[in-house]
Formats: sequence, structure tokens, C-alpha cells
Amino acid sequence: MTMNMRSQAVLAYCRAGFEADLAAEFRDRGVTSIEPGAGFVVARAGPRVLETALRRELTFARTVLRCHGDAIPLSGNDRVSPVCSFAQTWLREEGVAAISGVRVEFPDTNEGKAQSRLVEILEPRIAHALRAEGIGSDANAPLLHVFLTPDRLARLAQSVAGSAGWRNGIPRLRMPAAAPSRSTLKLAEAFQVFLGDGIERALRPDMRAVDLGAAPGGWTWQFISRGVRVMAIDNGDLKGDLVDNAMVKHLRMDGFRFEPKQAVDWMVCDMVEKPSRIAQLVARWMERQWCTASIFNLKLPMKKRFEEVEKCRTVVSAAMEATGRRYEVRIRQLYHDREEVTGLARFLPRASRNG
Ligand SMILES: C[S@@+](CC[C@H](N)C(=O)[O-])C[C@H]1O[C@@H](n2cnc3c(N)ncnc32)[C@H](O)[C@@H]1O
Repeated sequence: MTMNMRSQAVLAYCRAGFEADLAAEFRDRGVTSIEPGAGFVVARAGPRVLETALRRELTFARTVLRCHGDAIPLSGNDRVSPVCSFAQTWLREEGVAAISGVRVEFPDTNEGKAQSRLVEILEPRIAHALRAEGIGSDANAPLLHVFLTPDRLARLAQSVAGSAGWRNGIPRLRMPAAAPSRSTLKLAEAFQVFLGDGIERALRPDMRAVDLGAAPGGWTWQFISRGVRVMAIDNGDLKGDLVDNAMVKHLRMDGFRFEPKQAVDWMVCDMVEKPSRIAQLVARWMERQWCTASIFNLKLPMKKRFEEVEKCRTVVSAAMEATGRRYEVRIRQLYHDREEVTGLARFLPRASRNG
């Protein structure tokens, strides 16, 4: 193996077409050796640079895995043997005696997805071959990822037990039959990604939300299905169950002009507007503390998408900083986001004296 032992590598999955944005993000964090693929990026750097680069989540990465710096050529029909002999050497070098399993993955592109039929064939065979070579099985050990690209290369990566994320970085969310638009999945995913285990605390039936640019109502539906009352702002019509729903008050007006009479728990915004205008709107809501938390979508039709996102992050963060309260701002390109990203801005409870 020719990998330079002083440098390490990470494999980051992303939406196809956003490799340059993810690369720009890595470069901004001091990582200069970047190899963009289709639907993924491999970034290499010394361990200190890489550790610092990954301390904060990346906007454009769906999954980030520590990987081997070299790709394995899979020229013949036998894919199992080359993967196994490479994996065996790598795991031994790393002092990994057992793995929790093998996951075969591929890029989220048409060519990448064409390999999906290999998953069921290869996973058990690679796992079996590694066991035969003495690699143990332990639920608390790392998961071995075998990432297959259409150019007949495989890359090996590891994730810490329990933190592998979704297969291929793609969540499988069911479209709720009663929701009026597919956009509902964007907010459902944002809740999962941003709130995680804290979802029950963050979305309670006694809460109130404002939805700016609500029609036809997919985001509003996410709130009312959790018992949260919604003020839905949009000149357009709400659809389905949301019309004449006691949990929803629909106001036909400009979302940029709306001001709540009382502070609410949530403000969400999916209006199609320039990202800088949306960031200023969110900043105004947070600075005036009209809400405790906000989820907002930033449409990115421009070329320099990473730079635009960072400008928006700065605008929202500065407004929250000015309040003197603890807060977080996170921006991610979710699976259900197309030419867009989704942000979370929220105030955090005061840190307790006992930490
Ligand atoms: C992408 S759609 C929202 C979809 C919605 N989140 C859902 O899940 O069904 C954008 C909406 O923003 C509304 N909109 C755009 N500009 C607006 C403004 N200035 N004030 C209020 N609504 C606006 C549009 O009428 C449109 O219904």
C-alpha cells in the first residue's frame, strides 16, 4: 500500500453537482489536497489539520468517513478478494481486530445507483471472507464501508460503532399521505438532522409556530401533526386537511412584513427569495427574540454557493450574538434539498452551574 502514513484521508458523500462546494468548504478549513468525484469528495491532510477541519459539521457533506487514501482497482469479475486482502491489511495496520459489519455503498448518481444490485451480493461475501481471515465480529467495533464507484474502484472507510449515519447518506422517510406537499419531507428531515434525540423536547403540543411562505402547507402539516399550533403566512392557498383546521390560522400577507404579537417557539421560512434577504429576516427575528428557534431554507441558484452560505451564517450569527444569549447556527444541505440548503438557528438553555 502506498498511502503516506503521515497524511490521513476522509471520504465525504454529497449531492451530485455540489462537489466543488464541498471542496471549497474543505479548502476554507485548511485542507488543500482534495480529489472531487461524482457525488463524493476525498480530502487528505495531516491528522491535526483534518481533526480541526472536522470539528464543525460541513454544510455540503451528507456523511463523512475516515478512509484509506488509496482506491482499490476492481478490474476482474472477482470483487471480493481484492477488497478483502486490502481491508485485512488496513485493519491490521490500524490495530482493528474486529468489525461490527460490512456496508457496501455507492455515490448518489445515476451511474452510482446502477451498482445497487451488488450490495446484497457483496456484503455477506466480504463479511464472510474477512471472518475466515480472522477479523472478528463485535457490535461495538467500527463498521467497514466499501464504497464502489462506477469507474470500478472501491474505497474503504470506517465509521465508529453507532455513528455510520444513513446508508449512502440517504434517509428513507415515508411521505405522509395527509401532507399537502412533498416539501413536508424537507422539514421532517431537518427535524431529524438538527434535533435528533431532542425532538420530543423541541416540539411539544403546547408550542406555537409561524410558517412564512407556508402554502400549500407541507411544513405547517409537520407542526400540527405534532400538536404545535401554526400561524401560516402566505398569499397562496393552503391545501387538504389544513383548510379550516383549528390548529392553523392562515394570514394572507407578505412574510417579510409579518410581526408576531407575542414571541413564539418556532419560526420557519421556505419563501423563494434571495438567500441574503432570508438571512436578514431570520436575523431580525432572532435579534428581537420573536422566536426561540428557526428553520429556514436558502435557495442557491448562484455559482459561489459556499461563499453565499457563509455570508448568511455570519448575518444570522451576528444578530444572535448581539442578544448575549447562548445559541447555535447550523446549515446543512439535506438529502431533500435540491439547489438549496437548510439552516437551524436557535437559542440554547443557559448552561447550568454544574456544567
Ligand atoms: C416553496 S413554497 C413553500 C412550500 C411549503 N413550505 C410547503 O411545505 O408546502 C414557497 C411559498 O412561499 C410563498 N412566498 C413567496 N414570497 C412570499 C412572501 N414575500 N410572503 C409570503 N409568502 C411568500 C409562495 O407563495 C409559496 O407558496
